[in-house]
Amino acid sequence: MKGVILCGGLGSRLRPMTLVTNKHLLPVYDRPMVHYPIQSLLNAGIDEILIVTGGEHAGDFLKLLRNGKELGCRRLQYAYQEGESGIAHALKLAEDFSDGGRICVMLGDNIIGGNIREAADGYRRQTKGAKILLKQVEDPERFGVVRFEDQRVAEIIEKPKIPPSNMAVTGIYFYDEQVFDICRTLRPSARGELEITDVNNHYLKRGILSFDTLEGWWTDAGTTESLYRATRLAAEEGANKLNAGLVAA
Ligand code: G1P
Repeated sequence: MKGVILCGGLGSRLRPMTLVTNKHLLPVYDRPMVHYPIQSLLNAGIDEILIVTGGEHAGDFLKLLRNGKELGCRRLQYAYQEGESGIAHALKLAEDFSDGGRICVMLGDNIIGGNIREAADGYRRQTKGAKILLKQVEDPERFGVVRFEDQRVAEIIEKPKIPPSNMAVTGIYFYDEQVFDICRTLRPSARGELEITDVNNHYLKRGILSFDTLEGWWTDAGTTESLYRATRLAAEEGANKLNAGLVAA
């Protein structure tokens, strides 16, 4: 399974910082944001990775990450997204890279404390379809949210005004090769974007969407508050590792 990290968008919720750099290059504690999803994929045994980015600062990813070898990537590639037309639009650029195989897609501003290895292994055993990872949150209206019926996922609603649950869909998704055909059927949402939630609902309607609950902490880092939270959580984790003697002082 290969990995795709989506690092596009204008980062408008993080202006003025994002006037001079891409959101995913901003610091989260001791590293640039994009290092975190790369590490999460590597931890799950996924070392062939595509970075999809765009805008004026795309070249800075190459300066920072080069061929990815220093971080442990076997292969690191880049794709350039023209314009900002949503997550599912960016994902289309990964079709050639995926080469008919399965992919794990991570939004570049999703930062986790735990490991997605078990989820990835679970998906490797799944015969077809997709898998999403859920996390309980206090502010579900900011995310894709699950509506349950008899403990089954009945529907995913993107940024609902009245959330049907507090289970958010994290920006970590596992897809089979059908995802690109599904992306081609999508129409722009009210905010003018091709929504990843529509992709997931497509799999759901066909009964081939599984879900796990993500262990450990999770946050996005796309707003001032969530970027601050990500930094705080990453710093606490760094301190814990130091105290446990897992890293050198
Ligand atoms: C996106 C997705 C949303 C998901 C979230 C996770 O939202 O559209 O379904 O819950 O990422 O971070 P966005 O960050 O584009 O507002």
